[in-house]
Amino acid sequence: SRGQLVDRFGRVHRDLRISLTDRCSLRCTYCMPEQGVEWLAKSSILTTDEIVRVAGVLASLGIVEVRLTGGEPLLRRDIVDVVRRVAAIEGVAGPLEVSMTTNGLKLPELAEPLREAGLARVNVSIDTLRRGRFAELTRRDRLDDVLRGIRAARRAGFSPLKLNAVPMRGVNDDEIVDLVQFAVDNGAQMRFIEQMPLDPGHTWSRTEMVDAGEILDKLTQRFTLTPIGERGSSPSQDYLVDGGPTTVGLIASVSAPFCGACDRVRLTADGQIRNCLFAREESDLLPLLRGTEGQAPADDDAIAELLRRSIAGKRAGHGIDDPGFLQPQRPMSAIGG
Ligand code: GTP
Ligand code: 5AD
Ligand code: SF4
Repeated sequence: SRGQLVDRFGRVHRDLRISLTDRCSLRCTYCMPEQGVEWLAKSSILTTDEIVRVAGVLASLGIVEVRLTGGEPLLRRDIVDVVRRVAAIEGVAGPLEVSMTTNGLKLPELAEPLREAGLARVNVSIDTLRRGRFAELTRRDRLDDVLRGIRAARRAGFSPLKLNAVPMRGVNDDEIVDLVQFAVDNGAQMRFIEQMPLDPGHTWSRTEMVDAGEILDKLTQRFTLTPIGERGSSPSQDYLVDGGPTTVGLIASVSAPFCGACDRVRLTADGQIRNCLFAREESDLLPLLRGTEGQAPADDDAIAELLRRSIAGKRAGHGIDDPGFLQPQRPMSAIGG
């Protein structure tokens, strides 16, 4: 063990989010333009060996949980291998807990093998239950595949199975109650996420955003919600729906930031360490992992040092409400959800 990753505010980092690819099989209007974005260079995408190495160094620095994201993580051809190898890494308190956030399209084929490879949990994004609306919102007519994916995940034994939706005004904010009912009917947990200023068109507006208070209002007109205490470093405030077992969670990143309890560090698909979703700077691991012309690849100590420095430079919070706030340079799809 190399000690812990602690920042200037005393936040101890235990959670690693790894983006495996910036590509996606959907084109959600709030995330990507139809033609996609400028993709990361193939040569810069981390190999599985490189991912496993960085995750191993982070495990020695106190990381205990890993979330695999994208883009769409299931587009990575060696995804089952990535899961198996990362889940085999010994952390300070046993093997790393590996979970995934996915659009679900490939879960019908992959849920079983992923479970077998040691994936602990999956979160599936589903913003609407209406086929036509799904096709408009994601620019792909594939709601049925997501629904099959959710069933496959459940059948493979993933529990809890969390569903994520971003409510948007005039788009899907009339489905908040329906989505919770869907979770009740399908043995899942529903979560609603406040939209953050990460959209490619930079059209996000604080006043247009559907906030957690509004979501809660809609829900309490239909369900009895009982708050579940002790959220720790989890971004969602959870409630039992009509006494449970279904829960609904609100992720109020904007109206009630949870940055004070943040324990997250991110690794992008192209080997950059980001200490925050909204970080202004990144730390480049590629030269250390691969070496440069005049320089041999670095050892694990040097990688650990770069990771420590990145966390030491972490800011107090996202600063969305600050006058000088700037959206990150990277789109959300290249940062990891
Ligand atoms: P579990 O509670 O462990 O299941 O995971 P999670 O909620 O952290 O993971 P998930 O990937 O499902 O994240 C849901 C949403 O939370 C994301 O889509 C983001 O909108 C938001 N989110 C995740 N990580 C961060 C973060 O570090 N900062 C902020 N502000 N929002 C985050
Ligand atoms: N704000 C909040 N959540 C977002 N997601 C994508 N873009 C945003 C945004 N601007 C969500 C997706 C998915 C998860 C990975 O991130 O809906 O559920
Ligand atoms: Fe952590 Fe940054 Fe997310 Fe706040 S916005 S919770 S500091 S990663």
